[in-house]
Amino acid sequence: MSGGLVGLPLDRVDGPVKVTGAARYPSDVSLPGQAHAALVRSTVGAGRISRIDTSAALAAPGVLAVITHENAPELADAPPTALGPPPRFPLADDRIVHFGQHIAVVVAGTPQRAAEATRLVEVEYERVEPVLGLDNPSAAVERNAWGVEVDHGDAEGALATAEVVHDETFTTAAETNNPLGLFATVAQWRDGGLVVHDSTQWPMMARRTLAGVFGLAERDVRVLVPYLGGGFGAGLRTWAHTILAALAARVVDRPVKLVLTRPQMFTSVGHRAESRQRLRIGATADGRLLAIDHDSVAALGAEEANFSAIVMGTAHAYDCANVATHDRQVRLNIPNPGFLRAPGHAEANFAVESALDELAHRLRVDPVELRLRNHADAHPRSGLPWSSNALRECYRVGAERFGWYDRDPEPRSTRDGDRLVGYGMAGVTFGWYAAACEATLSITTAGTAVLRSAATDVGTGTYTVSAQLTAELLGLGVDQVRVEIGDSDLPPAPQSGGSGLAAALSGAVQAAADNLVRAFLDLVADDGESPLRGRGPDEVGAADGGLHLLADPGTGEKYADVLARHGLDVLTAHGEVEFTEAARTSGLAAAGAFAAHFVEVHVDEDLGVLRVARVVSVVDGGRILNAKTARSQVVGGVVMGIGMALFEDTVFDADTGRVANATFGDYLVPVNADVPDIDVTFVGGPDRFSPTGVKGIGEVGLVGVAAAVANAVHHATGRRIRDLPITIDKML
Ligand code: MOS
Repeated sequence: MSGGLVGLPLDRVDGPVKVTGAARYPSDVSLPGQAHAALVRSTVGAGRISRIDTSAALAAPGVLAVITHENAPELADAPPTALGPPPRFPLADDRIVHFGQHIAVVVAGTPQRAAEATRLVEVEYERVEPVLGLDNPSAAVERNAWGVEVDHGDAEGALATAEVVHDETFTTAAETNNPLGLFATVAQWRDGGLVVHDSTQWPMMARRTLAGVFGLAERDVRVLVPYLGGGFGAGLRTWAHTILAALAARVVDRPVKLVLTRPQMFTSVGHRAESRQRLRIGATADGRLLAIDHDSVAALGAEEANFSAIVMGTAHAYDCANVATHDRQVRLNIPNPGFLRAPGHAEANFAVESALDELAHRLRVDPVELRLRNHADAHPRSGLPWSSNALRECYRVGAERFGWYDRDPEPRSTRDGDRLVGYGMAGVTFGWYAAACEATLSITTAGTAVLRSAATDVGTGTYTVSAQLTAELLGLGVDQVRVEIGDSDLPPAPQSGGSGLAAALSGAVQAAADNLVRAFLDLVADDGESPLRGRGPDEVGAADGGLHLLADPGTGEKYADVLARHGLDVLTAHGEVEFTEAARTSGLAAAGAFAAHFVEVHVDEDLGVLRVARVVSVVDGGRILNAKTARSQVVGGVVMGIGMALFEDTVFDADTGRVANATFGDYLVPVNADVPDIDVTFVGGPDRFSPTGVKGIGEVGLVGVAAAVANAVHHATGRRIRDLPITIDKML
């Protein structure tokens, strides 16, 4: 049934509506009679509100309501989600757990009036000393509730007897999700139900949360997000501001719009937690790994949960019999961390891949060779064959494209004029979180198809790849497929996150397409006028807007003709996939993406200036649905990886926990001048576990870049930097 569309580097089908401004992001939604909400945030890091006076704010022009913990209607607790418990609701009582906590919401006729009136809310606090800093002795330390710690073999014993033991500590900075699209909510109560336009990566979860909080049936809540201006994981939870917008709409009995400001984004939607990781590696003198002990401590909010553990990938990245991992979280008075692209994996990989580079240098083994010697030919824990694994190919192709073996391995050996040149690399074994997904496909008398699913396109290309796949499976042109997503009323879909949606949604689309073909064949089973009568699905193919006999491609008919003859306007089929049970029975270790990154840096030692000059990334992403959007995913990931390596650092003021750099002026991300040529190649083939052969590639591009940069810095300068980001002060 091949139309040859899957894999082609087609332009985004949503490109025109985006560049013309027709695509409606949550912050673009305007409803008749809508009021606007603005947030008042705590100016202390911990304690309680002793007095809050809203009278001046209430008297300000245009103000409709001011909601505080004193007058907020009581809400039910939000239900837990598949990714952990919900964020704390800040207006439940008078307690302050972090600087910037929402303490009141002002509703007015215009956004300006609402913002203006927030300044008139008078607040007095009973302050207590906030608990800050990963090393704070008074901070509570807990084990990560996700249960990711492992103890395979005897890591301590193997470390005690290994010929070589490497023991180092690495730290990674807090980083804030900064999608270009400010998170926004427009909430409207209608006929006792709630309609919410919201910046979410998971409409079904937002619906469930809102229904739970407001005591509604899920069918009475609708969450819409046809377009989202990025999220990077911030949209995987339903944060307090979304609930506050819905609450405000109920209080003023009008639609209410709330758009976070950029500084508010830094305290409202999570961030990558700061981590400190001690890594002990035991090896033979020729570089065979004998033991890994990975001990991570990461930050956590004072009264919240964040299930993004750090160490969860360490035990299956390499063939190593003795692995122990430890994942602890330190409770601090900071805005609660959350998910940020490759949460945990990116931080852990920095430690592991840096340490392997150190080991390679110490043993005088080439870093690529060291990884090949420890390559996990089967899944290291289960022993099952990988459903797909082209990691060796990633190394081989990457080294070749990069010219890796041209390097003189000696640090400080290579110069380009005044600048030191360094080559570094890192490997990546990634996971994915595909969850059950449903979709429907319909074909209308116009001969066009409509795909419906409650999935989202966070900017990654979901519209495009699912249109492409649908068109190929049904024998249509891409422009004959309409994709309707971003609506919780549509067939249930999982989050756009964990690099899992493409595999999940494509699986559902494929199942729906199979069922739709069957439905057409059922329709004509006894149809004397149909050349397809009595034929089974194995006997037909799809092309040119209809079905034909595989044995005789000239014999067949168009979908539209079948519908017309049978007096139907539309034929619809449902499809679904599930992965949990399939994984159990497949006999395979369900593999995520693999990658190798190769980086060249140039260092001006006098100025401490470090430039990433070149990146070669090779990714095994299984079957690639669209070469252009896939490449964009990896390029975007690499750019964020450069940000993690060199720039991004959310700074919490040591006395108050205030985010000290909560603007794009102060919080640095890579800009064009920081981003070199990025060479992306895909290797490998369709995955055997994923029904469509697709593996997720949304995060793998980021993972490994920081280690590759740090390793290149070592090669260039002889200095090992184990503390991200690698800023000028650390280079001098
Ligand atoms: Mo990502 S942190 O799975 O959106």
